[in-house]
Amino acid sequence: MPQTVLILDFGGQYTQLIAKRVRKAKVFSQVLPFSASIQQIRSFDPVGIILSGGPASVLQTDAPACSPEIFELGVPVLGICYGMQLISHMLGGKVTAAQKREYGLQKVNVKADNELFKSLPGSLDCWMSHTYQVDRLPEGFRTIAWTANCPVAAMADEKRRLYGLQFHPEVTHTKQGNDIIHAFLYDVCGCEGDWEMTDFARAAVEDIKKAVGEGTVLLGLSGGVDSSVVAALIHRAIGDRLHCVFVDHGFMRQDEPRLVAEIFTRTFPVSLVAVDAAERFMQKLKGVSDPEQKRKIIGAEFVAVFRDEASKLGHLDHFAQGTIYPDVIESGAVPGATVIKSHHNVGGLPKELGFTSLIEPLRMLFKDEVRELGLVLGLPREMVMRQPFPGPGLAIRVIGDLTAQKVELVRLSDAILREEIGITSLDTEINQYFTVLSGIRSVGVMGDERSYDYAVAIRAVTTDDFMTADWARIPYEVLAIISRRIVNEVKGINRVLFDVTTKPPASIEWE
Ligand code: XMP
Repeated sequence: MPQTVLILDFGGQYTQLIAKRVRKAKVFSQVLPFSASIQQIRSFDPVGIILSGGPASVLQTDAPACSPEIFELGVPVLGICYGMQLISHMLGGKVTAAQKREYGLQKVNVKADNELFKSLPGSLDCWMSHTYQVDRLPEGFRTIAWTANCPVAAMADEKRRLYGLQFHPEVTHTKQGNDIIHAFLYDVCGCEGDWEMTDFARAAVEDIKKAVGEGTVLLGLSGGVDSSVVAALIHRAIGDRLHCVFVDHGFMRQDEPRLVAEIFTRTFPVSLVAVDAAERFMQKLKGVSDPEQKRKIIGAEFVAVFRDEASKLGHLDHFAQGTIYPDVIESGAVPGATVIKSHHNVGGLPKELGFTSLIEPLRMLFKDEVRELGLVLGLPREMVMRQPFPGPGLAIRVIGDLTAQKVELVRLSDAILREEIGITSLDTEINQYFTVLSGIRSVGVMGDERSYDYAVAIRAVTTDDFMTADWARIPYEVLAIISRRIVNEVKGINRVLFDVTTKPPASIEWE
């Protein structure tokens, strides 16, 4: 058993990011609800405990609190944001409403005379998001960081090895965040870095074996990274008792259905059924222009196609999905998070299909971790490094109602974009890029003729986790080639736009 750091979850939006940072530092971490009992906590024999942030205030009557005995275990504790306020509140300090709410990047002054900050400069840019703050320190603590508005931005009781940070070291905006987490893990908790992605793979394979027993599994294969990695994991666990179904809804990228079938039968000997259901989907989507409606119809039709195919395969016991953590969050499956888009690969599918259990081994991983896992499992790099492609496919990259012609316009322009980006070295720098057929038609001239055709937009983003993103700075010369090729080669498009919006406020996809 590797050394374990427990993360107690107080409902903060960054809890899984904390877990990811800890994994990145090669330390095994386990997220537990804040209400975990002291017996449960002890059973992990943790080398450290992290208390996450959360939306509550310690001053409210039913404020979430952890077992007070964790402070007596002799194990280092790091409280982040709400976690720090809770330490203060539970150990006799005082928390009050801040005079000025701090949100966003703040200059934080730190003392270098402690384990957390000893190798850092005296002033750091840190991500803050808090309405309450520690007003009076509990006994035994001292202030080790402060901002212009927040007198206690970090606190420490070195004797008991208890630490608190009012800012968020786990988000990328806090530049030295990784160093701080690393210092807590290695210098305070004495971690040895004995955990690797291969351990995750081994544990996941064991879990799948246990869950499936002698049974069989149906997996919807999209050809994307997530479902491919799930296929590899389950195949390793149960071999040919895994049955994959690939539904071609008619909204795949150029050549994709053929490639998926080829790569899959070549890479692993999985049983794969490929279904061409393009007609069925198009019928259902006729005249529908609302983005959520489109997603819902595609999701429902997926269920229908799956039901048909599954019944042809005979009885299968379990259903597997390549859901990853951002899907879980964005679908509102976590209490407190609002629905942003109904991702078609999360939701009622298994229940409707009559499966008793759902296997989602990637549910707690971020995209970059899924790729690392894929490589560990021996998947080809070309497959693992593919950019993400949404379940509803090109259907949500044609704004408004769908026709076969519009889908073809986005497919052809997307193929040109991918080809040109692939020629440059930009494809390793840009995390996702595609074209979107805007609903706009505009006037142009082609030879001597007036045209009235569609405008297509290029969307290209750089991002770590797809939860926030910046637009990619594609050089003008490359944009010029792409634009020229699209308007010359794709009949029906006479204008090319470049999307220069970050996420938030825009999302990566347009629908
Ligand atoms: P947004 O548009 O929400 O996209 O900023 C974030 C990432 O998720 C992908 N995406 C989806 N993936 N099913 C998926 O499997 C979906 O319904 C879906 N919608 C968006 C999107 O391509 C981007 O990588």
